[in-house]
Amino acid sequence: MNGAREKWTSKVGFVLAAAGSAVGLGNIWRFSYVTGTNGGAAFVIIYLVAIVLIGYPMMVTEVAIGRKSEKNPVGAFKALAPNTPWWLVGALGVFSGFVILSFYSVVAGWSVAYIFKAIAGFIPDTDFAGVFVGHITSTGAPIIWHAIFMVLTAGIIAAGVVKGIQRWVKILMPVLFILLIILVLRALTLPGAGEGIAFYLAPRFGDVTAGTLLAAIGQAFFTLSLGMGAMITYGSYLSNQENIADNGGWVVGLDTAIAIVAGFAIFPAVFAFGFDPAAGPGLVFITLPAVFAEMPAGSLFGFIFFVLLSVAALTSAISLLEVVVAWLVDEKDWPRVKAAVSMGIVIFVIGLPTTLGFGVWGDVRIIGMEILDFYDFLASELALPIGGALTAIFAGHVWKARTVVDETNSPPGAIKIGNWYGVLIKYVIPIAVFLVLLFTLIDFLG
Ligand code: TRP
Repeated sequence: MNGAREKWTSKVGFVLAAAGSAVGLGNIWRFSYVTGTNGGAAFVIIYLVAIVLIGYPMMVTEVAIGRKSEKNPVGAFKALAPNTPWWLVGALGVFSGFVILSFYSVVAGWSVAYIFKAIAGFIPDTDFAGVFVGHITSTGAPIIWHAIFMVLTAGIIAAGVVKGIQRWVKILMPVLFILLIILVLRALTLPGAGEGIAFYLAPRFGDVTAGTLLAAIGQAFFTLSLGMGAMITYGSYLSNQENIADNGGWVVGLDTAIAIVAGFAIFPAVFAFGFDPAAGPGLVFITLPAVFAEMPAGSLFGFIFFVLLSVAALTSAISLLEVVVAWLVDEKDWPRVKAAVSMGIVIFVIGLPTTLGFGVWGDVRIIGMEILDFYDFLASELALPIGGALTAIFAGHVWKARTVVDETNSPPGAIKIGNWYGVLIKYVIPIAVFLVLLFTLIDFLG
C-alpha cells in the first residue's frame, strides 16, 4: 500500500475503538467468574494494582510502538529494529490473533444464542446447567452462531478502519454503556443485594494466594487486549496530534470502570437469589439465567444482558481480526476486503474443533485438555505473557524507555509519563510476567 496510512478521523475514534477492543467477554464473563472463584474483593484490589503497575504502562507502550512505526505488529518491530529477529514477537502476536479469535467467536456465539433463549423466556425451575451443556454439546447451533458472529466481524473489518471499525464502535459503545447502567440499577435495587456488595467490596485477605496474584496479572493482560499487538495495530492509526498517555488513560480507565461496574450488576443479583458466586466459567451462562428466571421481568433483563455481552464481544473480535488483516495488507500487499473475508473463513474453520470438542469430539484431549481449553491455554496463558514480556524488554532495552516516554508525552497532554516508567518497563513488568509464566508451567507440569 502506498500513500498515507488511514487514521482515526474522530477525536474519540481511537479511544472508543481501543476501549471496544478492551471491553469484551473478559470484562463480564471472565472477570466475574475469576473474581467469584478468587474470593471477591481481595482479588479485585490486587487486579487494580496490576492494572496500574502493568496494564497502563504496557498499554501506552504498545500504542507508542504502533504510532511511531505506523505498522501492523510484524512491520512495527521490523521498522523500529531493522535486521533483527524482534519481528518474531509481532509474528507471535499475529499467531495469537488467529487462535484467540477462533475460540472467542465460539463463546461469543453462545452469547448470541442466549439472546434468543431470553426472548423465548427464562422460566423458573429450569435445569439451566442442562440447557447450557445441551447447547454447547450440540453440533449445529453453536457452529451456525459462530459463523454468523464471524460474518459480522469480517464485515466490519472489510469496510475499513474509519468506515468500518470507527463507525461501528461509535454506535455500539454508547449502546453498551446504556445497557450496563440499566442492569446495574436493576441489580442494586433487588432486595438482598447487600450481601453481594459485601462479597464484592469487603476483602478477606486470608483468601489471597500466589494463584490470586497470577490470576490478577493474567486478567490485566487479557482484559486490556495486551501482549499480541492489538494496541500496536490500533495505535498505528492514531494521529501525531493526539497524546498517547491521555488516550491510553481513557482506554484503561474505561475498561476498568466497566469491569468493576459489571461486577455490581452480577454479584448483587447472584446473592439476592441465593446462588453461588464461585460457579466458574458457567456463572454467566448457567447462574445468571437462573437469576433472571427468578426476577420480575427477568427475561427482558436477560435479553439486555446477552445483547450487552454480544456487543462487547463484537467490538473485541474486530480488533483481533484487524491484527491479522493489517499484517496481510501491510506486509503482503493484500487488498483489505480479500484479507478480511478469507481470514474470516480461515479463523472460522480453526474454531470448529473447539466447539466440536464439547460434542462429537468430546473424547479428544490435547495435552490433557479439552480442545477449547487447550486453545485458551496456548494463547492466553502462554503466547500473551510471552509476547507481553518480550514487548516490554524490547521497549525498555532495545527501543529504549526514554524514546517510549518521549513518544507517549507528545504532544504534551494532561498526563505526563515520568521516569518511573523506565523502572516498570525494564525490570518490574518482565520479571512479574516471567514469574507468571514459570508458575503456569510448574502448575501444568506438576
Ligand atoms: N480484551 C478483550 C476482552 O476483554 C479480548 C481481546 C480482544 C483480547 N483483543 C485481544 C485479548 C487481544 C488479548 C489480546 O474480552
